[in-house]
Amino acid sequence: MYNLNKFFIPLAVFLLVTFSSFAIAEKIGHYGVGKTASEQQIKGWDIDIRPDGKGLPKGQGSVTQGEPLYEAKCASCHGSFGEGQGRWPILAGGEDSLTEERPEKTVGSFWPYASTLWDYINRAMPYTAPKSLTPDEVYAISAYVLYLNEIVEDDFVLTDSNLASVKMPNEENFYIDDRPDSTNTRCMKNCKNPADIEVVQPLAGITPEQEKAPVKEKAKSTSSLSELAIQGKATYQSSCFVCHSSGVAGAPKVSDKDDWNKRIEKGFDQVVTHAIDGYSGNTGIMPPKGGNLSLSDEQVTNAVHYMLEAK
Ligand code: HEC
Ligand code: HEC
Repeated sequence: MYNLNKFFIPLAVFLLVTFSSFAIAEKIGHYGVGKTASEQQIKGWDIDIRPDGKGLPKGQGSVTQGEPLYEAKCASCHGSFGEGQGRWPILAGGEDSLTEERPEKTVGSFWPYASTLWDYINRAMPYTAPKSLTPDEVYAISAYVLYLNEIVEDDFVLTDSNLASVKMPNEENFYIDDRPDSTNTRCMKNCKNPADIEVVQPLAGITPEQEKAPVKEKAKSTSSLSELAIQGKATYQSSCFVCHSSGVAGAPKVSDKDDWNKRIEKGFDQVVTHAIDGYSGNTGIMPPKGGNLSLSDEQVTNAVHYMLEAK
């Protein structure tokens, strides 16, 4: 009995000591390793500049000071007026172009906050010598780029305290995504096959356009075409018509039956494979699926049926 106690007491003491030292270690760091980052260390990582100006270093620079700096360090690529040399990025202009087919996104036409301009130049420009500018130079050059975009006047002085008040023309067009969240619950078992899911109502600009399956009644009215050809008509019109109706770029015209008869000698399957995978014969280049890679193989096959049968 005595001997047993002699054994148990040290064990209890051992456990007590072990667990309490764990408890102390918990406080220092989750696993008792590492140490608290110093202010200096955090400073090295804390480099972001916020739209409200937080994070900007003290400093200032005027449009007038910015002009010669910009001319010497930036104009060779971005052009004296921000118009962009060759294919280097354009920094100014492009107002009201965002809704056009080829929008010109520049600092003035697109960027929502002046803080991004300061931060971008400070971290990344000039392209060949990033981080080579002093804060005051970055203020001056930023002021000049704002001036090129007609956002500030020629006597403007940009500082760490007035940068946040520079109003960028496109700011209003950046807003929190207001589309409704989906309330569907996630399916974990016995789920629908994704291939069977149909978009019931496409959302303009969000869901890719889908061709409506041809209505059965139509089949009767265009009786000269086979069922598959009827199904392929919409695909033909959306993705093949551009080249194959008029013979653009050497494409065989749908109406040129002699040409098609020669092609079909290779066998229907071969011709279809060419339409799916792309093909370059003697007359031009047939891009894979006519360039519309969202088409299924079946849709392309049916389009070929249509092309062969249509007059
Ligand atoms: C050697 C050519 C070159 C020089 C010199 C140069 N840049 Fe750039 N700049 C570029 C390239 C290339 C990009 C695009 C980089 C990217 O998209 O990754 C760019 C992008 C930019 C952008 C962002 C444009 C946008 O709409 O996305 C700004 C602003 C800019 N530069 C300002 C400046 C300023 C200010 C200077 C002078 C201090 C300067 N650059 C010097 C080549 C240059
Ligand atoms: C950008 C123009 C263009 C578009 C769009 C296009 N084609 Fe073609 N297609 C061609 C050209 C050019 C050829 C002839 C290539 C050759 O023989 O040199 C061709 C040839 C073909 C052939 C014959 C292949 C063979 O073996 O001779 C088929 C079949 C065909 N296209 C189907 C389609 C279908 C289906 C679509 C739509 C999904 C489509 N094409 C869209 C340009 C186009």
